[in-house]
Amino acid sequence: MSALAAIPTTVESERNDVAHLVGDVERLEMIFDGWDETARGAARAYGLAIEALNGEALRRLVAALKHDPAALAAMKSAVADDVVYAVMRRHGIIKPSLTERVEAALDGIRPMLASHGGDVELVAVTPPAIEVRFTGSCDGCPASALTFHAGVKKAVEEACPEITDILQVKGLATASAPNGDTVRFVSPFALASGGQWHYAAKIADIPEAGIKAMILDGEKLLLSRRGSIVTCFQNACAHLGLALDDGEIENGVITCPYHGFRYDLSSGECLTAPSVQLQPHAVRVVGTRVEVRLQK
Ligand code: FES
Repeated sequence: MSALAAIPTTVESERNDVAHLVGDVERLEMIFDGWDETARGAARAYGLAIEALNGEALRRLVAALKHDPAALAAMKSAVADDVVYAVMRRHGIIKPSLTERVEAALDGIRPMLASHGGDVELVAVTPPAIEVRFTGSCDGCPASALTFHAGVKKAVEEACPEITDILQVKGLATASAPNGDTVRFVSPFALASGGQWHYAAKIADIPEAGIKAMILDGEKLLLSRRGSIVTCFQNACAHLGLALDDGEIENGVITCPYHGFRYDLSSGECLTAPSVQLQPHAVRVVGTRVEVRLQK
């Protein structure tokens, strides 16, 4: 237990920095993990006892203040703070929000959806209605209407009786481009990259479940498409840098025509040598246009 002496403790000026406080907890937990079971049990019990004491103090504080309208209003306002909310929730002093209850209900049916290769996403909570969207193989599946009524609707209505309308949103998430066009898909890489968006192709120019090779601003690119989801990679195999566009495509996987490296076109992940991948470029679909932001 002398390892405790090595813990860099949070200095006074950082006491209110949540990241540092969480870091202290994580460092302590790593040390506890190295202890034997008896010592770990004692540390756990000590932590729970302190937590129970804090929880009781918070409950008494709330009980003492809640009859004062001004104090009650101040407490409600304080709960808007993420840390206050998390601690109060942990101690059961405030009830889960409607969104949390809906998410918990959806979590309950996710294993069933996952067994069919799908998932469900909560799009909006606007009591008495919520909007959900099926993703993965549930999206567009002929059985999804049945799944929706039998699974999602039942689970949500049981957990949240105040929700009476459950609407299924079709298709992918949408957002608006600055010029007002609808952006149908934005690559997950887009936020992490800078630079300009360049027009690359019309979405219809990329065959469904296929690829289109092209040169943009001197870069050899490989666009691939599944529905409205477009990905863009450097057209260069991670093995010897040769072009991939003559490769065979099957079930979203392209095989390099030269030495057989296989790549998942949705992520660029190399299935043959998982330590390498295709170089991705950020891509978005605006209306019917596919735009690419090159990572140079
Ligand atoms: S160049 Fe692609 S596998 Fe060798």
